[in-house]
Amino acid sequence: MKGVILAGGLGKRLYPLTKITNKHLLPVYDKPMIFYPLQTLINAGIDDILIVTGGNHAGDFLRLLGNGRDFGLKHINYTYQEGEGGIADALSLAEHFSEHDKMVVILGDNVIEGNIIKAVKDFREQKEGAKILLKEVPDPERFGVPEIVDGKIVRIEEKPKNPKSNFAVIGIYMYDGKVFDIIQTLTPSARGELEITDVSNAYIKEGRMTYDVIEGWWSDAGTFDSLLRASELVAKGGANKKNL
Ligand code: G1P
Repeated sequence: MKGVILAGGLGKRLYPLTKITNKHLLPVYDKPMIFYPLQTLINAGIDDILIVTGGNHAGDFLRLLGNGRDFGLKHINYTYQEGEGGIADALSLAEHFSEHDKMVVILGDNVIEGNIIKAVKDFREQKEGAKILLKEVPDPERFGVPEIVDGKIVRIEEKPKNPKSNFAVIGIYMYDGKVFDIIQTLTPSARGELEITDVSNAYIKEGRMTYDVIEGWWSDAGTFDSLLRASELVAKGGANKKNL
């Protein structure tokens, strides 16, 4: 299975930190942010990886990661997102790379304590459709939030004022090759972006979505508070543990 790391965007919520670099190159404790999602994929046995980046500092990813030798990789693929069209728009750039196989998509600012080994194994065995990962959080209104009825996700709402559960949809998504047809049908949200939540909702509507609740802590790192929190969590006990 292939992996896609989405590391574009302008990182406006972290301005001025992102004035002279890309958000995903900022430090989370002792490493550049993008090291964490890269390691998450590698730990799950995914070594055919595309990084989608953008903005003014895209060349720095190449300087930092090269062909991924420090991670035991032979090669990393890169592509460039013009402008800021949202997460689903960035994902659409992976169509050529994916060859319409199943893939794991991870947001470049998501850091986890554990691993996704079991979820990826289950998705390899899932014939088609999609799989998302959830984590219970104190502030679901900051995220995509699933409404769960009788153990089934019936809908995800993006940053709802009145969340229907205490779960966040974390930024690790598994999709089959039909995802690119779905993206073609999307229209921009109120914030002017093609939303990954709308992609997942299309799978839910078709009854082709499964989910898991992830073990260990999870943090995004796209705001000052979450960037600090991610750094503190990593400093306290480390991330990307294979045995959790
Ligand atoms: C994005 C997604 C949201 C998801 C979150 C996870 O939010 O839109 O559904 O819960 O990533 O990190 P954003 O980082 O764009 O606010």
